[in-house]
Amino acid sequence: MRQNITNTTSNSYIKPCPFGMEVEPYWARRYDLFSRWDSGIQTDKEGLFSVKPELIAMGIANWVSGQTIIDGFCGIGGITIALARSGHNVIAVDSNKNRLDMAKNNAKIYGVAGHIQFVHADIFDFLKKATSDTIVLDPDWGGPAYRKLKYFRLNDFKPNGRQLLEASLKATGNMVLCVPANFNIEEVLTLSKQFEYKKWKMWNRIICITIKFSNQ
Ligand SMILES: C[S@@+](CC[C@H](N)C(=O)[O-])C[C@H]1O[C@@H](n2cnc3c(N)ncnc32)[C@H](O)[C@@H]1O
Repeated sequence: MRQNITNTTSNSYIKPCPFGMEVEPYWARRYDLFSRWDSGIQTDKEGLFSVKPELIAMGIANWVSGQTIIDGFCGIGGITIALARSGHNVIAVDSNKNRLDMAKNNAKIYGVAGHIQFVHADIFDFLKKATSDTIVLDPDWGGPAYRKLKYFRLNDFKPNGRQLLEASLKATGNMVLCVPANFNIEEVLTLSKQFEYKKWKMWNRIICITIKFSNQ
């Protein structure tokens, strides 16, 4: 059963946040999250605060290389839709079926659902049989409270970031991990020495950092 989904209408600009004051700042920026918000974008509370804003998602999508990309944590589709809009074929995975359905709805609004295969699965199960050039990983940071941590560590991701990277590195060496601004980058040195990273800024702050691991 779907709960707390918002399917917005053309007058939603003045609509109060339906998910509570805690996520009101994200709601206020919803047109930055999806410029086509009023065409019927669907989200739940977690989708609202965890989706990458459209501009940043497009930047990440253009920064990622590979024809077919696995988006291991699709959510309501921010990065998935951007990858498809940038010409990639996408395999979009999420363990939350409702959110995956919302991503499918949102992809239709951008006219790219035909380039995306939506898979309802736990990423660890999926990775055991994954065959793809590149995997994008945007695991949960534990909600807006992640900003209160001095350093965000691999163990703070949900699921555990260290286990996730180890499982992904077995499937492919080409991997992109999205981390928060307070992530301790030195931690990934223990897993791989071949990586580059990029900081993504918006609203006068760093929204996320992407770390690209390469097997070449
Ligand atoms: C940070 S959100 C992804 C946001 C997405 N990149 C976007 O831009 O819209 C993380 C997503 O991972 C999903 N998730 C959590 N644990 C998972 C797992 N073990 N396997 C697959 N998906 C999982 C959650 O349901 C959630 O939708």
